[in-house]
Order: sequence, then structure tokens, then C-alpha cells
Amino acid sequence: MGSPVKEQILKLFTDNKDEFISGEYISKQLGISRTAIWKYMNELKTEGIDIVAVRKVGYKIVGKLDKITPTDIKLGLETKQFGRNVFFYEEVESTQNIANELVFKGAEEGTIVLAERQVKGRGRLQRNWVTGEGKAIAMSIILKPSIPPKVAPQLTLLAAVAVASAISKVTNLKPNIKWPNDILINNKKVCGILTEMHGDSDLISSVIVGIGINVNQEKDEFPNDIISRATSIRIEEGKKILRSKIVQAILMEMEKLYAIFLEKGFVPIKLLWESYAISLGREITATTYSETIVGKALGITEEGQLLLQDEEGKIHTIYSADISI
Ligand code: BTN
Repeated sequence: MGSPVKEQILKLFTDNKDEFISGEYISKQLGISRTAIWKYMNELKTEGIDIVAVRKVGYKIVGKLDKITPTDIKLGLETKQFGRNVFFYEEVESTQNIANELVFKGAEEGTIVLAERQVKGRGRLQRNWVTGEGKAIAMSIILKPSIPPKVAPQLTLLAAVAVASAISKVTNLKPNIKWPNDILINNKKVCGILTEMHGDSDLISSVIVGIGINVNQEKDEFPNDIISRATSIRIEEGKKILRSKIVQAILMEMEKLYAIFLEKGFVPIKLLWESYAISLGREITATTYSETIVGKALGITEEGQLLLQDEEGKIHTIYSADISI
């Protein structure tokens, strides 16, 4: 974890967005000397935060590099709990594994793990997940809800709503969700979500929500066999976006939706999910581990399973499948 004083300085800048803050004010607020402030400001500069210092006026943050270190995430973060503990790595096998270890060490709810590179990133249905170095987001969020395991898929859908809503807030794009939790922009996948849980058959002790987003890759950085199906926020938006902004927006949306979920249950989340859903009312193909079903997507159940009506009118409840639209 970073130095508490630096965290307090980041909070002051977060609370006074785009404004100069005088050294005297910082000094009074934090009870530290002007020399100490100067030292911390220099540390922030070396961490990639672009700070201007104007004599007799104070300090102002004018920009930052596209990095996702704890400093980058905390500067501008408006959540109470989510993302307040950030574990950042240059390279990991999978952020899910680190989050798992942290859960066993008693990590708090809302703790996140971020990495620039994953060498064994995991996707749904036992697939690999490639994290484009320096241009993508690979993040795992630790949740500790007291819910029975059958309710856990609802959290996957909640995470999809959080990501879709965060992307619409930070960009001009209109993301959609493909069941259960792929985020698409202009029909191409920009984000995948993998939820893993611990607990026993009655009660969950933790859920790790793994989110992988293509942010700043350009077209030629995607392998040929993927480019027709995948995209990045940069390709669709036409400009680079700071990854830290997207992470912050996701954390904010997750915190908000998770509180609603704990208080009111899944119904409000289900409505939001449906407002982003791409396939409802359309004919889709669901490939489960045992069969392929072609049918009309009718909606999702209260538990988050997909309802599919085949040609004969039979309604199938889909728990896990690969969907083609
Ligand atoms: C999918 O198959 O669509 C889900 C992909 C999930 C990828 C993310 S990246 C962060 C976290 N770490 C992993 O190894 N996987 C998830």
C-alpha cells in the first residue's frame, strides 16, 4: 500500500478537481511541512503525475500518463470502499490467482488487483485470455457477499452492467451486453468477465470478478483471426482513453450497483442488464457443453439464466453456453 500522506494528498486533489491547491492549505490539512509536501509532489511526478507548481499559488495536476498504478487509480477515485486497496503488478499469471491468495489472507471487500501483463490469463469456458501489454485492463475485484451459491451468477450480470455503464459514462460509445457478460461495441467484443467463487454449498464466502478490457489497442494489434470479432475502446471511440478513468468509473458503478443489489436484490439490476442486452427478442445460437440450441432469446430469469425458445416453442433455461448472435 502507498504512503498514507500521499494518499491524503491524492484525495485533496480528487476533491479539488482542476484547481490549484496552495502549499499552505495542504500543509494545514495534513499537518506536514512545506518541505515534506514538496518531497511528496516530486514523488508523484516521478510516478507519472504531471504537476505544475506556481510560486505563491500552489500545485495543480495537469495530466497523467496512461498507467494503472495505485497512485493513478486513487487520484480521482470517488468511491468509499471499492478500489481503496489496490494491488498492482507488472506481470502476473492471472490477476484472479493473486485475488484468490488475497482472499485467503483476509483481504477486504472491494480490494482490487491490476496487472499490465498476464501470462496465463483465464477466460470463460476454460479459454485463454490475452492482455495486450500497456493498453488493456486486467482487473480482479474481491467481493464478500453473504449469498447462496445459486445467486452468484447475478453478480456476473451486475459486473457486466457496471462495465457497460462505466464505458458509456467515460466515452461517447453505446455498449451492449451479450449474455451472460460480454460487452460489445458495434457488435464486437471489447470486454470479457469471469466470475469465480469460494464457499460451501450453502453460503458463498467470496466472489472474484475478473474483468478484461481492450482499451487502447489499434486494429493491427489484434490477431487476424480475432479482428472481425474483437475491438478496443480506442478503435471505436477514435481516440486514446486513460485506462485509470475507466477503472475508476467501473469501481464507482460496481460500488453503487452492489449496494443496490445487497439492499433490494437482483430485480433492479436485471432491469438495467436488459436495457443493455443485445440479443433479447432475436434469434441466437447457444452452444452448451452437451447441445446446440437455436432459438429466440426471451429474457433472463431472476437467477440470471438465459431463456431461449426453440422452433417448437419449447423454452430452455441456459446456465452456461457460448452464444452466437
Ligand atoms: C471471457 O472469457 O470473456 C472472460 C475473460 C476474463 C478476463 C479477465 S482479465 C482479468 C482477470 N484475470 C484473468 O485471468 N481473467 C480475468
